[in-house]
Amino acid sequence: MARIIQFVLNGRARTDAVADNVLLLDYLREIVGLTGTKTGCDGGECGACTVLIDDVPRLSCLTLAASVAGRRVDTVESLAVDGRLSALQRGFHEKLGSQCGYCTPGFIMAAAGLLRRNACPNEAEIREALGGNICRCTGYVKIIEAVQHAAELCAVGLSP
Ligand code: FES
Ligand code: FES
Repeated sequence: MARIIQFVLNGRARTDAVADNVLLLDYLREIVGLTGTKTGCDGGECGACTVLIDDVPRLSCLTLAASVAGRRVDTVESLAVDGRLSALQRGFHEKLGSQCGYCTPGFIMAAAGLLRRNACPNEAEIREALGGNICRCTGYVKIIEAVQHAAELCAVGLSP
């Protein structure tokens, strides 16, 4: 069965008919065409599919699209504004937080959730916030440094 849902996606109101059994991950990638959100394990283990729902990081592979009715959903595509990278995007770029990059959108959105609730996290808080995200390339050190650098950029006025 399909239902009509209204929600806010990356800052814009949206109305769509979605089947009850469609996952948010598949909705975003295949119906909306926002492929920044990645499919990794497809089972809640890797964090590659992380998006923000009402500013809280959620796994879109475990979330039904219909359940976001009335909510705000932000994907990695929401971060850059007018071609200017957000603090986290700059952090990952400047601190070499990405190698193949497949895990990066998930890490960035998990970190975005952290920085929206805690603008100045310490290393332990960053590690805890990213604990559900897996990277097969980096040793995680550069990723932590990227988020620390992003927090510094936020302190001088950039949005996460
Ligand atoms: S694809 Fe969702 S947690 Fe791995
Ligand atoms: S950069 Fe390749 S999986 Fe993380």
